[in-house]
Amino acid sequence: MMALPQRVRIVEVGPRDGLQNEPGELGIETRIGLVERLTGTGLAYIEAGSFVSPKWVPKMAGSGELLKRLHRGAGVTYAALTPNLRGLEDALASDADEVAVFAAASETFSERNINCSVAESLARFEPVLQRAREAGVPVRGYLSTVIACPYEGDVPAERVAELADQLYRMGCREISLGDTIGRGTPGSVTRMIESVAQRVPVEHLAVHFHDTYGQALANILASLQLGIGVVDAAVAGLGGCPYAAGASGNVATEDVVYMMEGLGIETGIDFPRLCQTGAWITEQLGRSNQSRAGQAWLAAQGQAADG
Ligand code: HMG
Ligand code: MG
Repeated sequence: MMALPQRVRIVEVGPRDGLQNEPGELGIETRIGLVERLTGTGLAYIEAGSFVSPKWVPKMAGSGELLKRLHRGAGVTYAALTPNLRGLEDALASDADEVAVFAAASETFSERNINCSVAESLARFEPVLQRAREAGVPVRGYLSTVIACPYEGDVPAERVAELADQLYRMGCREISLGDTIGRGTPGSVTRMIESVAQRVPVEHLAVHFHDTYGQALANILASLQLGIGVVDAAVAGLGGCPYAAGASGNVATEDVVYMMEGLGIETGIDFPRLCQTGAWITEQLGRSNQSRAGQAWLAAQGQAADG
């Protein structure tokens, strides 16, 4: 077990992974409002949208307009998903600072999510990575279903390691390991990361937990103990995945930041402003706040104001 890092970089995926799956109406103003409020919390990396087919994921339509109209914060990276060359060209035209390709560790999830096999997806990413390199835009690589697939069940850690290695060798600067349906525990997550870290340097790995089984924080702590220093999270625990029925949202950013503060790990994020942003977006969406820490902090503010 390694010493915990002094600093952790949080990748805020709420405006993408969160909002892509929200059932309610979602105006572009609300999406811009969310990204700008998140910018105000001190987050340095925000995944703002997605350049995918609007027929497949209607909620991410207009991501180009969002990126163009956004008031950007100095030193903040605004990223977007790009499944193919067309998505990449649109992202470049909107001045995305960074882009992400996304593959899966299980065949059925790959077919359902991006309509091609895992091997076909990697072949499709080659020109995306090449063009991004020419444009000087770094590429993140997501790998989904690293613990389990909603259609195929448990996914072997060795397969995850093999694919993470391929994405890394293809030029992804960081591989985000996604427990898409939140089935992992510190046991299975530790085994998976140990396997991947034999092939990809741990400094180039990130973790992406959905909190379906309530294990996300424990899984993050286990990941930090293995040397991981980048954690994906969504404010208010927004979202789910359109191609993974029953999967709940990402771990809530507020919960992650609260835990980091308790561990003495710097994130650069203002916890109260983050909680206020979580309250704002859940009110806009008319949905409940999935962050336990956020809810607790907001309730304590209410009591202080009443008392
Ligand atoms: P396809 O049908 O195989 O490809 O879709 P196609 O090239 O035949 O295109 C189909 C239609 O999409 C055409 O339009 C294209 O023009 C259009 P039509 O002729 O039918 O009117 N199209 C596009 N439109 C806008 N932007 C583009 C684009 N490309 C094609 N870039 C495709 C392949 C990948 C496009 C499709 O399957 C798709 O968009 N899938 C969306 C998948 C997605 O966004 N999933 C959610 C994100 S992944 C995730 O959440 C997991 C993650 O969080 C990690 C984790 O938790 O595990 C990252
Ligand atoms: Mg996800």
